[in-house]
Amino acid sequence: MSGMWVANGLSQDLPLGVVMAGSWQGAELAIWRSATGRLSAWNDRCPHRGMRLSHGFVRGETLSCIYHGWTYGTDGACSKIPAHPAMVPPAAIKAEVYACVEADGVIWVAPAGTEVVLPDLSGLVAVRSVTVQADVAALTRGLPGFVQHGAVWRGQVEGAAVALVVQDRGASVTLHGLGAGDRVRLSRWLDGVRRLVEEGVLA
Ligand code: FES
Repeated sequence: MSGMWVANGLSQDLPLGVVMAGSWQGAELAIWRSATGRLSAWNDRCPHRGMRLSHGFVRGETLSCIYHGWTYGTDGACSKIPAHPAMVPPAAIKAEVYACVEADGVIWVAPAGTEVVLPDLSGLVAVRSVTVQADVAALTRGLPGFVQHGAVWRGQVEGAAVALVVQDRGASVTLHGLGAGDRVRLSRWLDGVRRLVEEGVLA
């Protein structure tokens, strides 16, 4: 079931106490890391009135909605409603939780309960993510010699192994780049890939 897992960023880009927007096959997600490092991914809709939870804020082991401050624990359950401080929120008030794991410096998301089967990216170091304004089909133009296995394109840059984990966003794709070689060179090469795919010209 590895195809169910969608890369949503590099671990290095989601520090402690931060929430960011993500996606899973068209579903919008809020992905956040608690103060102790616990990772969560939820539907990006507050169960109260639908405000984006990715606009909220992390406090300790909770995520609070920016609209009326309803607060949710890492299990997705509502733990506090500021307008009713004496009330214990009903168990039914719960964010829609996705499975979220990180491996080899990449954050992956899938529907809750999905078996964890991920590509092996060991030996490679996460470098950076680059968003390309093109669809997935256009990637072949910028990655000659690379071989695709599911969401991962593998190849070599200046003799060093490189893997690009593709996050399909519909009108654009984000390439999460990992490599065994020099990070600065790989970062520049990623810029070149972006230009080649978007404009058909070499950087
Ligand atoms: S919409 Fe989130 S607390 Fe009201």
